[in-house]
Amino acid sequence: MRRRAAAMFAAALLFLPGTSSALAADTGAIKKKAEACVACHGADGNSTNDVVPSLAGQPKQFITTQLVMFRESNRKDPQMSPMAANLSNADINDFGTYFSAQKPAPPRQSTVPDKVAAGRRLTERNHCVSCHGPALMGQQHIPRLAGQQREYLRTQLRGFKAGTRFDMDGNMTPAAQALSDTDVEILADYLAGMK
Ligand code: HEC
Ligand code: HEC
Repeated sequence: MRRRAAAMFAAALLFLPGTSSALAADTGAIKKKAEACVACHGADGNSTNDVVPSLAGQPKQFITTQLVMFRESNRKDPQMSPMAANLSNADINDFGTYFSAQKPAPPRQSTVPDKVAAGRRLTERNHCVSCHGPALMGQQHIPRLAGQQREYLRTQLRGFKAGTRFDMDGNMTPAAQALSDTDVEILADYLAGMK
């Protein structure tokens, strides 16, 4: 399973960045195509649904690799899998270009003020910042966490801890093992409130 995911990941890296489509330059057409996505992911990919992740401002490579993973059934979700099943590589490239360029909306929830320092400490002590970036904005195939939906973050962290959340390069499952249930709560709250 992990080897297959790694192979798909390599494939995604190989051909997606070079994919060019006639539509790539036409943001109007891509925006129209993205209407199917914003129904769940919110206008411009800024989710207003606690259990659906925001896509605005995610690194392009993270979006494209996750879409390939959903399409190839490595990552599965009853709502998202059918949406990715018939996407072409050109579609995936277009969605990556479009959503990565959208401006993230201000966080929908603010961190409980006396938890900010504890949240920051956890991201440093557990090296979240070394992969997700100093401001948790993500990079390459690693997602932006700042301003993500709190409930979505909480579910994903619990999933990594339990070994049930898809883990493309095998980094997140071990990273989540050190977290207590309280740590997960503090982190979800802290990250969701970050700009
Ligand atoms: C019916 C609702 C729905 C629609 C429509 C939908 N999605 Fe999703 N999408 C979801 C849910 C729910 C998740 C989170 C799945 C999970 O928990 O693993 C998700 C996850 C994702 C992710 C992974 C994000 C992350 O932070 O891990 C990407 C990328 C994505 N969707 C892109 C798209 C694109 C592009 C479209 C349009 C082609 C689309 N989605 C349409 C519900 C939807
Ligand atoms: C060694 C690198 C690394 C470290 C350390 C790390 N992460 Fe991750 N993280 C990743 C990668 C890579 C992914 C994408 C995994 C995938 O979708 O297959 C990810 C995904 C996630 C996701 C899912 C987000 C989404 O939109 O689907 C969350 C939440 C997350 N990480 C939180 C954390 C937290 C909190 C910490 C610190 C406790 C942390 N990560 C430490 C590399 C890392």
